[in-house]
Amino acid sequence: MTLLHARGLAKRYGDTPVFANIDLDLAPGEIVALLGESGSGKSTLLNCLAGLDEADAGSIQLAGQDLRAMNDDARSALRRRELGFVFQAFHLLPHLSVADNVALPLRLLGQNDDDDRVQQMLVAVDLAGLAQRMPRQLSGGQLQRVAIARALVHRPRLVLADEPTGNLDARHASEVLELLRRCTQEAGAACLLVTHSERAAEAADRRLRLDANGLHAA
Ligand SMILES: Nc1ncnc2c1ncn2[C@@H]1O[C@H](COP(=O)(O)OP(=O)(O)O)[C@@H](O)[C@H]1O
Ligand SMILES: [Mg+2]
Repeated sequence: MTLLHARGLAKRYGDTPVFANIDLDLAPGEIVALLGESGSGKSTLLNCLAGLDEADAGSIQLAGQDLRAMNDDARSALRRRELGFVFQAFHLLPHLSVADNVALPLRLLGQNDDDDRVQQMLVAVDLAGLAQRMPRQLSGGQLQRVAIARALVHRPRLVLADEPTGNLDARHASEVLELLRRCTQEAGAACLLVTHSERAAEAADRRLRLDANGLHAA
């Protein structure tokens, strides 16, 4: 049983290929580290898997559904339910408080009364005291932890995380890895984790490397 099943993915920008012939399977409950040099295409691959960017070729099945064959509405609905995304640049909404940013995925699913879950996620990322702050009042590491709480709050089955510990000190980095581990196991989710951290890579169940020859075990 695979949660994410991708075959033959290819992407180019103009004449420049980013990657080709990418096959990837993620099983429920596993954390897979995605390694590769800067510019190798890791963020582009995550964006294509999430349907935020369109691959030029290949197929992607998420929870048994063919993402690239669905219409936009159905794809958006599937994404809201099943996907948590931690962006490299956070992408928090500047006019919403920390708590409202974290609650956003729940609101988009019509779940407006789950303050306990929001609070639970804020505690988990050590931000319980900052719930009413605005993003501009936070440090880079705090913003990153808000983004992680937001990505996991609705118990998605696929978590795509782009360098989610890049701005964190050692203590918060290990707390975030622990949280990813707990959330993937509790929800039977899979997590693809872009990282440059040796420790994060070691904490993963498998390691993959993206380079000019494609994606292979590292
Ligand atoms: N929107 C875009 N238009 C053109 N080229 C892009 C775009 N996004 C990324 N690239 C290029 O694609 C390659 C892979 O980028 P990226 O996926 O960000 O790599 P990584 O995340 O591994 O550092 C880089 O050469 C980058 O310059
Ligand atoms: Mg990147």
